[in-house]
Amino acid sequence: MQILAQIRQRFAPVVESLFTAQGLTATKQQVDSALAMIRPAQSAQFGDYQANFAMPLAKPLGLKPPEIAQRVIAAVDLSGLCSEVSVAGPGFINLKLADDFLCQQANQAFKDTASIALDRAGMVAVDRLGVSTPTISENIVVDFSSPNVAKPMHVGHIRSTVIGDSLAKVCRYLGHRVTTDNHLGDWGTQFGMIIYGFRHFGNVEAYHAAPVPELSRIYRYVRRLLDLLEKLRDLPKWEQATVTAQERISICQAELAAAESSADKAATKVARKNLADAQQQVKELAEMIAKAQQQLRGAAQDEAVSRDLVQHAHLHEAVLAETSKLHAGDSDNVNLWKEILPHCHDEIDRVYHRLHVQFDHCFGESFYHDRLAPLVTTLQNQGLVKTSEGAQCVFLDNFDAPMIVQKRDGAFLYATTDLATIQYRMEHWRPDRVLYVVDHRQSEHFHKLFAVAQRMGYQHVQLVHVNFGTVMGNDGKPFKTREGDTVGLEGLIDDAVAKALEVVATLDDAKPAGPEFSATQRREISEVVGVGALKYGDLSQNRTSDYRFDFDQMVALDGNTATYLQYSFARANGIFAKAETTPDSIRSANTDIQLTNEAERTLLLALIRFQDSLEEVLVDYRPNLLCNYLFELTQEFFRFYNRTDCRVVGVEPKLQASRLAICDLMARTIKTGLALLGIQVVGKM
Ligand code: ARG
Repeated sequence: MQILAQIRQRFAPVVESLFTAQGLTATKQQVDSALAMIRPAQSAQFGDYQANFAMPLAKPLGLKPPEIAQRVIAAVDLSGLCSEVSVAGPGFINLKLADDFLCQQANQAFKDTASIALDRAGMVAVDRLGVSTPTISENIVVDFSSPNVAKPMHVGHIRSTVIGDSLAKVCRYLGHRVTTDNHLGDWGTQFGMIIYGFRHFGNVEAYHAAPVPELSRIYRYVRRLLDLLEKLRDLPKWEQATVTAQERISICQAELAAAESSADKAATKVARKNLADAQQQVKELAEMIAKAQQQLRGAAQDEAVSRDLVQHAHLHEAVLAETSKLHAGDSDNVNLWKEILPHCHDEIDRVYHRLHVQFDHCFGESFYHDRLAPLVTTLQNQGLVKTSEGAQCVFLDNFDAPMIVQKRDGAFLYATTDLATIQYRMEHWRPDRVLYVVDHRQSEHFHKLFAVAQRMGYQHVQLVHVNFGTVMGNDGKPFKTREGDTVGLEGLIDDAVAKALEVVATLDDAKPAGPEFSATQRREISEVVGVGALKYGDLSQNRTSDYRFDFDQMVALDGNTATYLQYSFARANGIFAKAETTPDSIRSANTDIQLTNEAERTLLLALIRFQDSLEEVLVDYRPNLLCNYLFELTQEFFRFYNRTDCRVVGVEPKLQASRLAICDLMARTIKTGLALLGIQVVGKM
């Protein structure tokens, strides 16, 4: 049920004829952008939908906007669709849907009881709700989550995981063929770290007792040593830089004095700016030095760390050497990697299980290893590669630096693997589109990657970097633990569930007839509410901006939260219980939804916009638009729910049946919408 598309279709010939009447021919782009300005009305006083294209068309048509609007409403055929169209203000066209049309669309959604699986395994099946499938179904690959394994998943991984999962589900629901692939980092330097760490700092007993925690400990320990060694190496450089910057301050001060005394305004401005820059630099260096010194003092108090810093002073090089040996097929390293890898999978699988996220494939970087050398040969044969300082490089127009595909020492890079991945996916899956859900810091990498892919001949696939911002703490800086470590994802889920338990307990304790849940039930509900809150807290943000992580806000019962939406679902179920009926019998009763007042009308209007909201999500890959939609829908539902003239239970039987059907449609839309965000509902809260 596409409402907007139906309205736009009626306007399309009218827009074209406006041009023709002026002796002009409209381009497709002119028509499309005019039609794109037909949107749901911002406020009910402007009707249900608004067409605002009269203003931008004034110039190309050489007509005043009110004149254009008048011509449009005289010509447009909205029969069966709208009951009122009028011109307001400087040329806004306001549209009101016909009640018959509204009811008919709502009934179509209500009576569509078919379901569709959101994952290949068919584990998550949801209602179709009258949502139509596209005439051209695309083949879409979604590359998401993709953590570097061998280290615990942290807060940074949540965004790619939940945004990617949701986009894949929305694509599938709208009728596209989707393949999800978790491009695991299972072959990178972190394995060099683990291999080296395992041999030198590992505790075999601890590993056998509980491999994953021991591997995490080893990883963190090596990471810490590497950081400290880097600080030891950088400190003298920073101190030297401070001296230089201080000298610059003196020079800038002298320049400023000279400029001021010669009353040269422009030069004074420049000198002031230079001085401020130099002072800022000294300040930043001082902060870095203080922080590093504090870290090093902490290390000095730890005997093992102090000893290992001396004994493993060349850790950085050693780690790279272990990685190279692994890649070169050294049997000891390969065997150790094979031994460790399954445990790394266990670690991330536990998190995926909790988030109920699944993938069709988990082809990690290691999967492509044997394809890298042939890939470079292909690039060479295509004449795309030049040797520069011993490295194999693809030079690109519009980029400062080339893409290096093989280093001088023969090693391949992240980019090489990504090219081999494109090659593999094109050969085996033939996608029309590939979405890479990866954070914005990799923008440059993907720009280059897509440019090289084009030159390799992959012109017909649309490669998209669906980038996203950083998760910030309450202090507005990247979210870290008090000790300055990254925040582990598993712990975060536990915390969200604990927060949810408070909310669930408060709601339950406040029930007029006393609490109804056992401790186990409370825990089960909290798991759904907590995980939902965490996911929704992320998905409801504009993906390209950074956002602040705030637990209290996430589980709030009254706001744009999953908890609020889940609560509305539970309330709808409460109505069914009160009416002593079930969703199944409501659906099989052959009821027709009827319209009897404004609150019902507004709710239905929101309900029939479901498909339009999903299509908007895919325009620029923004799940937050679905969140906004569901939030507005829920608000309308509670308005309906709280009105005395919208009582459901106990009114005249035909009206009760119609209102129960509206509640059922609302509950199914919320449940389906949340499922498309990867979030579950509970029958009672
Ligand atoms: N493992 C990478 C990282 O953690 C992300 C991989 C994203 N996908 C890709 N095809 N490059 O930075």
